[in-house]
Amino acid sequence: MTDIAFQPDYAALAATYGTPLYVYRADALTQAFNTYRSAFGEAALFCYAVKANGNLSILRHFARLGSGFDIVSGGELARVLAAGGAADKTIFSGVGKSEAEIEYALAAGILCFNVESLPELDRINQVAARLGKTASVSLRINPDVDAQTHPYISTGLKDNKFGIAYADALGAYRHAAALPHLRVCGIDCHIGSQLINLAPMVEALERLLLLVDTLADEGIVLEHIDIGGGIGIPYREDEAAPDIRAYAQAVAARMAGRSQRLILEPGRSLVGAAGVLLTRVEFVKHGESKDFIVVDGAMNDLMRPSLYDAYHRIEAVVAKDIAPVTADVVGPICESGDFLGRDRTLAVEAGDLLLIHEAGAYAASMASNYNTRPRAAEVLLDETGQARLIRPRETVAELFAAEARCLD
Ligand code: LLP
Repeated sequence: MTDIAFQPDYAALAATYGTPLYVYRADALTQAFNTYRSAFGEAALFCYAVKANGNLSILRHFARLGSGFDIVSGGELARVLAAGGAADKTIFSGVGKSEAEIEYALAAGILCFNVESLPELDRINQVAARLGKTASVSLRINPDVDAQTHPYISTGLKDNKFGIAYADALGAYRHAAALPHLRVCGIDCHIGSQLINLAPMVEALERLLLLVDTLADEGIVLEHIDIGGGIGIPYREDEAAPDIRAYAQAVAARMAGRSQRLILEPGRSLVGAAGVLLTRVEFVKHGESKDFIVVDGAMNDLMRPSLYDAYHRIEAVVAKDIAPVTADVVGPICESGDFLGRDRTLAVEAGDLLLIHEAGAYAASMASNYNTRPRAAEVLLDETGQARLIRPRETVAELFAAEARCLD
């Protein structure tokens, strides 16, 4: 985050809303969106990937900035619509769309389906026929380039479940073009997430463009090229930020002279750095071979460290003049994998507040109720620093209310 206009009063936020607490900044959301807009230009459509953070107020913030949305479920479409997002700027990605989801999206009038297989083309065609509609489709092509990221979040290689194999692409387009209730409008790809080196993304685009030209020769003329999301953010102190501007220039050079509209699906890079997870130290525990800083946030609030061994910067809200301890920062969940950071050196004691940085993306959206932990509250700080609760903390009663109704 640059251009910091105010310093949030985390102690006051913790006192008002409790901890653990997700704290997001509207100015950082706007700034990230504007970075894209100024790099890629007004003509491009930015479809924010809802999975990164689907809070309605976050979606509304992006909708007001003119953003479109990339969804992967009927549930995410319902969120976009509830937040006031435009259906005709919404694209539907994902490898396993159900008939009910396709029906819902067609009725809502989304911009297009990003289709990942022949059976999915057939299913969308059938549902559209039943509704007397024509569905706009883009084919997600797997360019088979190595995104050089964590294997769990790499999606563009041959052996991933995603996309249509490059070698099968022409056949798939011919199949789609022959289906009466489909309108073939685009091509898309997404090779992975948290990419710091953007060269593989440019390579992927080059491979897509070869196909676009071959398709045009066959009379299949596309209206848009969707280059996916995936741009990473720095999580470590010494990590460089990807150069979005240079990437945009590389893309523009390859798109020059083409009529297709450019679409992007950024998630993490729009919200990741705009959020922190605020958590309070319960105890500092001295173990036999290791020390632990036990906090009230846990893997259910931020599962990235446990799931991907991901690194998040952790910082004390108040720099104290006490002896620092080198310890694992862990939550109260009964799993050894419940850690937020390992071997961190922090000068903290019980009661202190910690910031887990870069928790705007894939934190709240991946949160669970494991160990019957209510999900944390979320607040959004407006441009002046004023806090607004955008999701109240869950109560324990809410967590099992439906089960209680099922008791015999
Ligand atoms: N488009 C598609 C088709 C995607 O699958 C994804 C993310 C995106 C766009 C947005 O990608 P982004 O710009 O956020 O990298 N939970 C993982 C990340 C999973 C990403 C899945 N797909 C994590 O916490 O790192």
